[in-house]
This record gives sequence, structure tokens and C-alpha cells, in this order.
Amino acid sequence: MSTAEKTFSKGLEGVVAAQTEMSFINGTEGILEYVGIAIGDLASQSSFEETVFLLWNKRLPTASELEAFTKDLRSHYTLCDEMITQIKSCPKDAEPMHVIRSMISMLAMYDTDPNANSVEAARQKSMRILAVTPAIVAVFDRYRRGLEIVPADPSLSFAANFLYMLNGEKPTEAMTRAFDICMITHADHGLNNSTFAARVVISTLSDVYSAITAAVGSLRGPLHGGANEGVMKMLNQIPTVDDAEAFVMNMIKNKERIMGFGHRVYKAKDPRASELMTLAKQLAEDTGNMDFYNKSNAIEKVMEREYAAKGIYPNVDFYSATTYHCIGLKLDLFTPMFVLARIAGWSGHVIEQLEDNRLFRPTTDYVGPHDVAYVSIDNR
Ligand code: ACO
Repeated sequence: MSTAEKTFSKGLEGVVAAQTEMSFINGTEGILEYVGIAIGDLASQSSFEETVFLLWNKRLPTASELEAFTKDLRSHYTLCDEMITQIKSCPKDAEPMHVIRSMISMLAMYDTDPNANSVEAARQKSMRILAVTPAIVAVFDRYRRGLEIVPADPSLSFAANFLYMLNGEKPTEAMTRAFDICMITHADHGLNNSTFAARVVISTLSDVYSAITAAVGSLRGPLHGGANEGVMKMLNQIPTVDDAEAFVMNMIKNKERIMGFGHRVYKAKDPRASELMTLAKQLAEDTGNMDFYNKSNAIEKVMEREYAAKGIYPNVDFYSATTYHCIGLKLDLFTPMFVLARIAGWSGHVIEQLEDNRLFRPTTDYVGPHDVAYVSIDNR
């Protein structure tokens, strides 16, 4: 490509950097599909396990394929003793996202062939990372609370097993289903920042662990997956529903960003936010947390009035905050929940990248000076 043809797009906005068969997004109309299936249909009818199969195989499984896939996933639920020791060597006040990022990186050292990069090897490693990361989160959380570690239960679904390992008691069907829907809605989302990070890393033919580790680092940023914690902090700062409008108007006046609103791609309501809004309402009713839902709703109304014309609407993080709160998760576990789900998407993209790889290596637009004389250090 000649210099004249090169264009600079800050933040790579509008640049097509990869092809995918996994998720389709129409940001103007607020549409999200996984392999052509509307996210709402998957949220209401599918399971996380089936959704992962769909993303990785680009089709829905038969009953026997789903059974085999689920069995394979469950066979990797358990964290080895060495990894448990590593987690217990982390400071108890460490941020869970830092622990997760470090521990996924560490998993490579307990893999006898960590660098294997065939598509088949990448699938197996993805299955292992997906299956075992819930245990990383649960073990760290129980260790920092001074509680006994709860071993994984392979008779449980991905969602139920995580809640069981975290809380030490089997979750209700309603809680399991709610958590499963959260996992489905967060599983994949085009070339978002963390997915791009994963694809960039694997494009060097590095290894799956490095790619997923990089993605976790990207996701924790407050402009990306970290926004759900920002939403909860905001809800906690608003004393009552009646204070919501004044609180948000004050933020707007101070030119602060309202967490959980706006999206690089969506200029309409994020369809995942619509799904999670319904879920949050139901859970809030069931768990006596309607004030959180009502405050969220009041904020959405103000934002619609003030920002809809600019194409700024609730994104996936807005109602996931209330949803996770109702499920009983601590604030610093909100972004980790995003990790548990998005490993499905990151891995699928890593596999797609390996199937048709070309090294990512964009160029820069050099805007500095030329022909500058070197001045020796004594004369500066
Ligand atoms: N609150 C107030 N104003 C906003 C918000 C917001 N949440 N989002 C965007 N804007 C405004 C910006 O101030 C800017 O205004 P200006 O043109 O007057 O300067 C304009 O909208 C465009 O904003 P950009 O940051 O350039 O748009 P971008 O496409 O980069 O925004 C982003 C995407 C980063 C997500 C942004 O909307 C944001 O910061 N939102 C809050 C954080 C958040 O919720 N992140 C989660 C995103 S979803 C996810 O990653 C899972």
C-alpha cells in the first residue's frame, strides 16, 4: 500500500481488522447475533455450554454433541493443587482481576505442551481455560475470606458449578438460570478491545495462554469491562431513587462519563442491555433489591432525555451491575464475571485467527521532526 493510500483512524474506529463468523453487530439498529441467531433467542432458549459450542463450531450441536461437549468441559473444572497453592500465595487484598490475569498466565506452566498452536490444540487449551477459570475466581475469593475451598462438582452446569464453588451451597434453579443468561449475553462481541488484544497476540504464533492473559488485561479497563463496577459504585453513591436525576445531572454538568452508557459500535440501545434489564428487574423483585433497579431505571430516563440524540444509550454493563448485585456477588467480582463468559469469545477468535493467520502489524503516522542534529550530553 502506498503512503497516500494509508489512512489514520484514531482508536481504529471504523477499521475492519478481521473477519469472523461468530458475532454480527448492527450498531444502528441495536442487533447482536451469534452465528446468525439473535441474542434474545439464545438468552431465552439456549444454555452457556450450547452457546460456546455454537461460537466455536459455527452451528448448534445435536443432543449427543452437546452431551459430549459438556462432559469434556466438566472434566476440566478442577484446579490442580499447585495452582491452588499459587492462588494462596497472592495477597488477600489483591484485585481479583490481577489474580485472574496472573493465574491464567500461570496455567501455561502446568500444561505439558503450552505452546502447541494447531487449531486442535488451541481448542483443547481453550476448553481447559474456560472450564477452570471459575475455580480460580472461587478459590481466590474463599481464600481471602478465610473459608474452606469448595471442590468443583462435575455434575453441575458451568453456571451452577461456579456459584456452588463460590458460595459453598448449591444455587437455586432461578439463580443458575440468571447467571447462565449473563454468561450467554457476555460470550462474544465482535472485535472489541480485549478480543482484538487476543487476536493480536496469537497472530505472532505465541500461545493461547498469552493471548487470553492479554485479553484479561484489556478487559479490566474502566472504558471496557471494568465499567460494570463503575455502574455499581454510582448506584451506591445515589441515596434514593429520588436523588438519581440530580446526581446524574451533576455528573453531566461536570462533564463526567456516566458508566454503563455509550458504545463505540452501538448508537442504539445495546440489545444485551435490554435482555439484562428484564433479568435485573426479575432478580431485583425476587431478592428485595428493587431500589437498585429503580435507580438504574431513573438514570436511564435522564440519559435518554439528555444523550439519546448523541446516540448514547445503556450498554451491556449498565444492567449487569444490578444483576450481579442481586446474584450476591461482591463488587470486585463483577468484571471477573465478564472474564468467565468472554473466554468463550476470546478463544473462538484465537481459533479463527490461527485458522487463517496473518501477523497484525499496523503502521504509525510519524508526526515528529526530521534531520535533528545529535547534541552530545555535555552540550544539552
Ligand atoms: N457519558 C457521558 N458522555 C459520553 C459517554 C458517557 N458514558 N460516552 C460517550 N460520551 C460522549 C463523550 O464525552 C464525547 O463527547 P464530545 O463529542 O462532546 O467530546 C462523545 O460522547 C463521544 O465519546 P467517545 O469517547 O469519543 O466515543 P467512543 O466511541 O470512544 O466511546 C466508550 C465508547 C469509551 C465506551 C464511551 O461511551 C464511554 O466512555 N462509556 C463509559 C464507559 C463504559 O460504559 N464502557 C463500557 C463499554 S461496553 C464494553 O466495553 C463491554
